[in-house]
Amino acid sequence: MDLRLNEEQEMVRNSIREFAENEIAPLAREYDEEEKFPHKQLEGLAEMGLLGMIIPEEYGGAGFDSVSYSLALEEIAHADASVAVIVGVTNSVCCYPILGFGTEKQKQEFLVPLAKGEKLGAFCLSEPHAGSDATNLKTTARADGEDFVINGTKSWVTNGGESEIHIVMAVTGENAGKKEVTAFIVEDDREGLSVSSVEHKLGQRASKTTELSFVDVRVPKENMLGGLGEGMKVAFNSLDNGRIGIGSLAVGIARAAYEEALAYSKDRVAFGKPISEHQAIKFKLADMATEIEAARLLTLKAAAAKDAGGKKTGVQASMAKLYASEMANRVCAEAIQIHGGNGYSRHYNVEKYYRDARITTIYEGTSEIQKIVISRGVLKD
Ligand code: CAA
Repeated sequence: MDLRLNEEQEMVRNSIREFAENEIAPLAREYDEEEKFPHKQLEGLAEMGLLGMIIPEEYGGAGFDSVSYSLALEEIAHADASVAVIVGVTNSVCCYPILGFGTEKQKQEFLVPLAKGEKLGAFCLSEPHAGSDATNLKTTARADGEDFVINGTKSWVTNGGESEIHIVMAVTGENAGKKEVTAFIVEDDREGLSVSSVEHKLGQRASKTTELSFVDVRVPKENMLGGLGEGMKVAFNSLDNGRIGIGSLAVGIARAAYEEALAYSKDRVAFGKPISEHQAIKFKLADMATEIEAARLLTLKAAAAKDAGGKKTGVQASMAKLYASEMANRVCAEAIQIHGGNGYSRHYNVEKYYRDARITTIYEGTSEIQKIVISRGVLKD
């Protein structure tokens, strides 16, 4: 077993690390405080091809493998988790399902501009009363001549109000007492689509999260993504991919918190010596470093399994997301503890990492949902 990165993966990681450190990290605090969408940072990432990382070059993407994608998201999140979630969502739950389920015409029309970073994507699954219980949707899409007419409300839409392309799951009928769900590609300029509210969040505040309202939104049948009734397959397949990204993002936040705590512990003196020389702090640092390493390995393993075309990547993605997100919360809490009172102040970055980490155990499936996916997988073995 070879755990080394290949030359291309190393190059991807190093170039993105440099960009993220120089162009994203210095702006992170200001954009967070002001809830300002990071257009400028995204322009730079688009130029590097990072808004279509896992999309083949023939469709305008960078053609990365999933391992490189994971490394890239860790680096971006290390600089600013808000930017990373915007990039993760457009890549993994908007571009990716169009690549996997789209017709050639849909790929040319929607995927190419997304992958080139000319447009941004969003994923509309959750609703006010259907979060974890994702199949229990109320949004409908009624066939009408050559069109479908969509009505309903979607919530927790990352990139809502900033995206041109939305993947929308809606109920198209009923089959043997079960809701038939179908996926659609909906452009932002369709009449009847509007932002009904904007969330003001604890963390990842530079990313925009909205509720979207669909009132008689008419889309042509050719905007259906996948077959009739394949909507949940499109959604869950996308989330299998997205969860590798969220695991990587969580590793990035944790690494940033750990590095600041490590530096602080060498500098801060208590009882006559740097606190890094006290066993209480040394052991915390040891645990943090070990957990970050374990989460990264789990995440890269899920990515490598996906690259190898393995069958159980959904379970591996859920394991990576579960462990990395819970780990990030523990590590960020300890980073504050090592900083003492200073860690609670906005003068230090660790309070931001702590806030940014909190959502990672919730979005793209809570930790409890990941345990359902994992337990179903292991019980099938
Ligand atoms: N790949 C492809 N298809 C899949 C699949 C997968 N990994 N998992 C399930 N499916 C299919 C099933 O085969 C089934 O198809 P049929 O109806 O044709 O048989 C269908 O999808 C429904 O599957 P289940 O019967 O297993 O569904 P369930 O009701 O038991 O739910 C669950 C399972 C694991 C709880 C699931 O609902 C789930 O993952 N919930 C969490 C949803 C989630 O992650 N939401 C986050 C939204 S995105 C977000 O956070 C905002 C953002 O912008 C980032």
